[in-house]
Amino acid sequence: MRSAGSQTDTKLLQHRHLLGLSTYSADEIYLILDTAREFRQVLERPIKRVPTLRGFTIANLFFEPSTRTRISFELAAKRLSADLVNFGGSGSSLSKGETLRDTAQNIEAMKVDMAVIRHSSPGAAHFLTRCIDGCVINAGDGSHEHPTQALLDLLTISEHYESFENLQVSIIGDIAHSRVARSNIFALTTLGAHVTVCGPQTLMPVHIEKLGVRVAHHLRDALRDCDVAITLRMQRERFGASLVPSLREYHALYGLRAEHMAQSPNMIVLHPGPVNRGVELDDEVVEHERAVILDQVTNGVAVRMAVIYLLASEAK
Ligand code: CP
Repeated sequence: MRSAGSQTDTKLLQHRHLLGLSTYSADEIYLILDTAREFRQVLERPIKRVPTLRGFTIANLFFEPSTRTRISFELAAKRLSADLVNFGGSGSSLSKGETLRDTAQNIEAMKVDMAVIRHSSPGAAHFLTRCIDGCVINAGDGSHEHPTQALLDLLTISEHYESFENLQVSIIGDIAHSRVARSNIFALTTLGAHVTVCGPQTLMPVHIEKLGVRVAHHLRDALRDCDVAITLRMQRERFGASLVPSLREYHALYGLRAEHMAQSPNMIVLHPGPVNRGVELDDEVVEHERAVILDQVTNGVAVRMAVIYLLASEAK
């Protein structure tokens, strides 16, 4: 696996924030992955903590439900010895009519250095950079981007394949509403992988080919010669019930089953979670030895440690 090259010998990112991966270079992505591998080793130790960010304060601003990402950022901050405050929309003054800008500025006035934000609106993380001076990490903004999810996906893939160059990756499911798909497409194509997107026509953005991907409408075409299948959650909260006839029909056409694992004997399967068992993946696939879903979760903490550490180093 290629690592960060001479251009990043200074070991610095060229960005102050992580809002998305569309503007991150291959060298920056490799720098994050290399740094995450070092933190991955820390997570295997009996004492899983380094003193690196003592005195640094991070606010976790989660305005949308989350299990993995919120806990992962919280653990990442704690493993780096940073101070962390968790903040959610309900139970806060947002419910009394305070704006996101005022809320963020009040939190920053308490000397917070970095904000991690999840929000249902695309662009919310970008907006936050115009409200506060500290660095901002996008933990998922509507259907726009989820950059740390794509980075942890890359780290997990790199544990199974030597190189991203010419790797055949298929992203399967609700492409139209998926921030995970967008961030993965940006990062994987930057690193030289061949990306195919597959899903119902109603869940496929028009002109998606312009992002440098191939479109397949049949699962068998997407799985032919596939090294990595990234399956996506059906996001019913974003499109209601109208865009697929039924989840049963979706599963029949696009759900991964044991027979697909047998037909593609080297393929690994990723899913960002939460999995709808029996919709995107059958139980036999979730529990298959080539399903790396829990490895993704473990790698998420290391990747978020790396991102926080590198952006905090920029900010100092
Ligand atoms: N993968 C992901 O973003 O999961 P959560 O919604 O649980 O954070």
